[in-house]
Amino acid sequence: MWDDNGQEYLDLYGGHAVISIGHTHPHYVKRLEDQLHKVGFYSNSIRIPLQEELASKLGQVSGKEDYQLFLCNSGAEANENALKLASFYNGRKKIISFRKAFHGRTSLAVAVTDNPGIVAPVNQTPNVIFLPFNDESSLEACFKAQGNEISAVIIEGIQGVGGINVASESFLQKIRSLCDEYNAVFIADSVQCGYGRSGKFYSQDFAGINADIYSMAKGMGNGFPVAGISIAPRIQPKHYMLGTTFGGNHLACAASLAVLEVIEQDNLMNNAEEVGNYWIEELKKLPKIKEVRGRGLMIGIDLPEELKDVKKNLLFKHKIFTGESKPNVIRLLPALNIGKKEADIFLTALKTELENN
Ligand SMILES: Cc1ncc(COP(=O)(O)O)c(C=O)c1O
Repeated sequence: MWDDNGQEYLDLYGGHAVISIGHTHPHYVKRLEDQLHKVGFYSNSIRIPLQEELASKLGQVSGKEDYQLFLCNSGAEANENALKLASFYNGRKKIISFRKAFHGRTSLAVAVTDNPGIVAPVNQTPNVIFLPFNDESSLEACFKAQGNEISAVIIEGIQGVGGINVASESFLQKIRSLCDEYNAVFIADSVQCGYGRSGKFYSQDFAGINADIYSMAKGMGNGFPVAGISIAPRIQPKHYMLGTTFGGNHLACAASLAVLEVIEQDNLMNNAEEVGNYWIEELKKLPKIKEVRGRGLMIGIDLPEELKDVKKNLLFKHKIFTGESKPNVIRLLPALNIGKKEADIFLTALKTELENN
């Protein structure tokens, strides 16, 4: 990226994991431009073949070909619809969420977010149960006590806003088996960790299980506002159950298809895994860092309190954008086609900062 003075920056933040295939990627620009010359929008009262094309491409690239697709406009809206659909499905009200979870800022999405500071009184509900992350015994105890009231369990495969915390494979497997036993719905929030970022299409795939609903947004449209939920076949749709005016419009579908095409053609999930593994290994060799967490191109670098200026220095001295999680985690969320060359530029800059502070 360049600023108004022509100063070049390396963007390792991607506007919060949104820029998945790079700013102004030529295939993306062409796909959207061509679509704009045909039709930009028409309502969901007509059939939109591009939505079917997107559903089948998403099924193919994600490996969940029998899943259904509902399209909407933001991550919060995707989670709202996932939670609502779960409740329609089993007729229940209670939802299990986890400490440090972030699922969005609207109604139910914010109610299942573990941050009282952004929950308005009107969003508060007794239906949400917060449990410790990666703690199998408290999850089991909760299901044992009230399993027949639990509508859904919602979890990020890798917590983003909460500071890059990876859900363990055995925890995800435990959620799967308890949801099966009690007919609850497993919602995998893949808004930040999905769409190939972890090296697999959904980060929950590492556990070798299928969730019932995957919510996605951010990297899906490479900057075009689009989101969706991918729904297992056992959850049957009914007309008018879910809906939205803008969701799945022609431009949103063109943007999402362009992203999937580039991910597939350029083998970007493999690249995310390869560059991510390299980066994590190299970061672990640097001094002073408390911990390096993450998977693929979703990485958190936990710094000690006294190094709180490092992020600022990376931007102003080294011209590198990074993300953060409070209190002191640097978050790397670059485009999935980043190379080792860019990874090395960051490693050199960070090493300099760590040695000089
Ligand atoms: C895991 C997760 N879920 C949901 C959301 C909400 O997405 P949006 O801001 O598009 O509503 C976010 C946003 O940061 C997120 O990280």
